[in-house]
Amino acid sequence: MSSVTGHTALVTGAASGIGLACARALADAGAKVHLVDLDPGVRDIASEVGGVGHVLDLTSSVSALPAEVDVLVNNAGVQHVAPIHEFPAERFSAMVELMLGAAFRLTRHVLPHMYSRGWGRLVHISSVHGLRASAFKSAYVAAKHGLEGFSKVAALEGAPHGVTSNCVAPGYVRTPLVEKQIADQARVHGISEADVSGQIFLQRTAVKRLIEPSEVADAVMWLCDNSFVTGTSLAVDGGWTAQ
Ligand SMILES: NC(=O)c1ccc[n+]([C@@H]2O[C@H](COP(=O)([O-])OP(=O)(O)OC[C@H]3O[C@@H](n4cnc5c(N)ncnc54)[C@H](O)[C@@H]3O)[C@@H](O)[C@H]2O)c1
Repeated sequence: MSSVTGHTALVTGAASGIGLACARALADAGAKVHLVDLDPGVRDIASEVGGVGHVLDLTSSVSALPAEVDVLVNNAGVQHVAPIHEFPAERFSAMVELMLGAAFRLTRHVLPHMYSRGWGRLVHISSVHGLRASAFKSAYVAAKHGLEGFSKVAALEGAPHGVTSNCVAPGYVRTPLVEKQIADQARVHGISEADVSGQIFLQRTAVKRLIEPSEVADAVMWLCDNSFVTGTSLAVDGGWTAQ
């Protein structure tokens, strides 16, 4: 039996990749799961997982989402690869709003319930780019570094109420987000698309493979089962940040 059994969870960006793996793991552990995504396909995916689907653009208000949530996984994210002098300003703002602003607004939305119950788990899917930088990822690195800081504040405020807050910081995971950036990575680095995997994705990781979404979900579930681990970031990065 997991500590999430019988609790209510909400996962953002749950129609794909890491979010879907987290929603599945939480449902398999006996949680009632709300799956939130921009993609209308989230409704069918939620039925298949055994949860409830919500179609929402997280850069807008989250007030329509359930607030009675015990486990919040802030996961939705996007990537844009371009040098700063060419990076569209509105794209920068939208990415920070999605990956940092929405995490703040959703946390704010569910904390009163967690505090009233004296138990809660906030898990934020950060990235190795919340701990390290890479060229051409200004919005992503800025948002993820901000998310790491926000999580620490939530950990300090939540501790007296039984609420933990942690980040999971993966390296490159086998998801559509990674597949979609192959062409842009090749362009900005001046290499062929065939060389992106070896020269960009696997270059800085000691373990030379992509991570599977289920391995990130395992880390999320481990954090949910711990009451003393808070305010930290769990790198699931094949040794990238050991360097
Ligand atoms: N894939 C990786 O290598 C990797 C590595 C480290 C961290 N991450 C992080 O993991 C998280 C999930 O990434 P993934 O690889 O599973 O990506 P993904 O593209 O497979 O899934 C992201 C999901 O977020 C949804 N989404 C995007 N914009 C949204 C919006 N405005 N409102 C609601 N939903 C929205 C998408 O529809 C999609 O279903 C992201 O925060 C990403 O930064 C990914």
